[in-house]
Amino acid sequence: MKIKVPSAIIALCAIAFSAPQVQAQELPQLGSSPIDDVVSAMTLEEKARLVIGYLPALRKVDRRKMDFSVLDFDYPGLGFAIGKVDRLGIPATIVSDGSYGLKKYIKNPDGTWGTTAFPIPILVSSSWDTELANTVGAAYGNEGKEYGVDGLLGPAMNIQRDPLLGRNFEYYSEDPLLSGKMAAATVRGIQSNNVGAVIKHFVANNQETNRIANDTRLTTRALREIYLRGFEIAVKEAQPWMIMTSYNKVNGTYTSERRDLLIDLARGEWEFDGVFMTDFNGTGWSPWQVAAGNDLIMPGTTYHRQNIIGAVNDGTLDEKAVDFSTANLLRYIVKTNEFKGYDYSGSPDLKSHAETARQAAAEGFVMLKNDNALPLSPQTKTALFGISSYVLNISGKGSGNVRSDYVVNLSDAIAEQDANVSDFYNAYIKDVVDNTPKPQRKFFGNVPLEFVEQLPESELIEAAAKDSDVAIVTIGRNAGEGSDRKLKKGDWLLTDIETSMLKKITDAFHAEHKKVVVLLNVDGVVETASWKDSVDGILLVWLPGQEGGQAIADVLTGKVNPSGKLPITFPNSYFDTPTHPNFPHDYVPPREKGVFDYAASMSDTHENGKSMRQEKPESEWVKNVDYTNYEEDIYVGYRYYDTFDKPVSYPFGFGLSYTTFKYGKPQVTQHGDTYQLDIDVTNTGAAVGKEVVQIYASSPANPAGQPAHELIAFAKTPLLQPGEKHSLKLAFSKKDLARYDSSRAAWILDAGEYVVSGASSSRDIRSNTAIGVQKEQLLEKTTNSVQPEAPLNVIKPCIDQSGQTIECS
Ligand code: BGC
Repeated sequence: MKIKVPSAIIALCAIAFSAPQVQAQELPQLGSSPIDDVVSAMTLEEKARLVIGYLPALRKVDRRKMDFSVLDFDYPGLGFAIGKVDRLGIPATIVSDGSYGLKKYIKNPDGTWGTTAFPIPILVSSSWDTELANTVGAAYGNEGKEYGVDGLLGPAMNIQRDPLLGRNFEYYSEDPLLSGKMAAATVRGIQSNNVGAVIKHFVANNQETNRIANDTRLTTRALREIYLRGFEIAVKEAQPWMIMTSYNKVNGTYTSERRDLLIDLARGEWEFDGVFMTDFNGTGWSPWQVAAGNDLIMPGTTYHRQNIIGAVNDGTLDEKAVDFSTANLLRYIVKTNEFKGYDYSGSPDLKSHAETARQAAAEGFVMLKNDNALPLSPQTKTALFGISSYVLNISGKGSGNVRSDYVVNLSDAIAEQDANVSDFYNAYIKDVVDNTPKPQRKFFGNVPLEFVEQLPESELIEAAAKDSDVAIVTIGRNAGEGSDRKLKKGDWLLTDIETSMLKKITDAFHAEHKKVVVLLNVDGVVETASWKDSVDGILLVWLPGQEGGQAIADVLTGKVNPSGKLPITFPNSYFDTPTHPNFPHDYVPPREKGVFDYAASMSDTHENGKSMRQEKPESEWVKNVDYTNYEEDIYVGYRYYDTFDKPVSYPFGFGLSYTTFKYGKPQVTQHGDTYQLDIDVTNTGAAVGKEVVQIYASSPANPAGQPAHELIAFAKTPLLQPGEKHSLKLAFSKKDLARYDSSRAAWILDAGEYVVSGASSSRDIRSNTAIGVQKEQLLEKTTNSVQPEAPLNVIKPCIDQSGQTIECS
């Protein structure tokens, strides 16, 4: 690998040859002079240009052919570049989207995209394997590095508060510990390439409906224990180079304008020392954002720059705040591969990344049901039903979507297929391909061809039931950024066609004593309770990335034993969720009614020096659209279902295997503020396999109320042979056992007994032990940041006369 001459040296030479010698010596240079000296040498104009990002650089031209000096910074670009100031040796650097792969906007000279579509993050977290998350992050971080990208806008790690949240596929879990650990591992993987990771969206950004202006209202306990906790873990364990603030407000103020959140909490309490950037075209007011410690406005426009300069000049923004952000950005720039002169190849090792994508996909599949239907023997003749068996959904929609050069469909990977069934679907696909005009290019990618589910004739199904050994029926769904999912047929529920397809297939195959297996090729949770009893097997394959078909075949045939477990609960009904009264599940956005969308027009990124920032009068605010009250408080996901004893379709942490495991009793030893837990796991079945062990803790009762139990640690065994025993070592801390006490602004470890369990899911506790805490301990005093503006009517557990835990408020 050639090493390029660092930009700082080029800049110095340029100055040496083009300007009087004395001037070159007097000017500080980034990299060789202290950061403060470089900041002091910058004009206000230069600093204001640096703290705004600009231009979708990768979209227009190959970075190597790019001359940033010809760019007019007044160009109201869409973002993606930061910098530059030649005279001080500050190069331009580039960030690109990267929630689950590198997003590129231009093709390689040979016409390929040359990027890998990895499985979606909810699939990676279903592996409960932090090593795997690290490997995936390292692979796509490497693609960033080899295409000259200095920072990746990912991982995204908001809590999957409600199953209909449109971006759940891009997030990790309903649980903050699992989210935080997965994000930390991904960050470490990305940054192992010296490419910066940008964790996002900070914070409590849990709906897409009116995402740019919604006010999240919640208690500081829920904020600390649920919504901030994952970010805290990722910051402390992996030191991401950047954090992207979210679009929404929290307790009345935009996150990007909250100094108490950015400076007091993240920088002060967590010692975050990177850069804060806004989410793209966020609605905050740039001078307030900079004053709050939001270092980078993405994307920058003339208007942002003018506002920052104007505010400094009229005394409403202290120039020291601009200097502070400038210094943070310079510290980022000196770390980059660009600054260090790395000569990127433009050709990452796509073969090995494809292998990583395939392995990762198979590790994250979750077997929800298996009545002796799987694995299939190698000679099994398979009837592949459902259009998604032939056109797999591989990635979610939106900014994180990666362009891959090919997709391995399930139909490409299954050897023995019923030809009549395949012919039926292939004929339809050919018809759509031949008769649909070429798809249009959109900002987020090509608009894919739309295939709708086809109902095969009864005769075809009945013949297949006679001719083949098993029916595989793939149900496909896809969601994306910008809108939430819908509580309707075709999204949460099966469509009428899917329902009758399943009925006809199960009737015909069961009449022949043959099995029916459903593959859920979905972006998120779907309703399963009404139909799961009618089929023999269910494998949740999420959106498995470009190698998905092969990975599915690996698991169906038993080449890979499924070991994934759910990172989110599958409730029986959407109306069982704790969040449904406070989530816009029934909201129809104005644009879908053909009406002007007030919220979508809100932005301060308009020209003529006039603020276009519009605020609706409070009297017109719509619940769950303009504001959302998190009345479920800390009782999100299994914390709710398990505390209030609600039946669910598939619990958090659930997943079957082709083998079985026995758990030993956990042994806990304390070392200061941390605990080590040892637990034996034995493979008691006939197949080799891995097991995800989850450790939950139940706290002693306290007046504030507490969940039945909470995840405090998890680990996955290596591949165990039948009969093999493995001893897992896990660690957790006092803080993992503690609760946040809003009235004292502190993390408290209550006195009493903590029951610590080894579990195979949140509802399958295998063994217990107990830890005693003699005296209440105040573990950490915090700032009193982000207080609610008004009290919230949150649920609390109470015990009724029959001893049942019920909801009180
Ligand atoms: C998304 C971010 C993304 C950015 C840039 C925004 O709309 O919320 O996640 O990184 O666009 O594409």
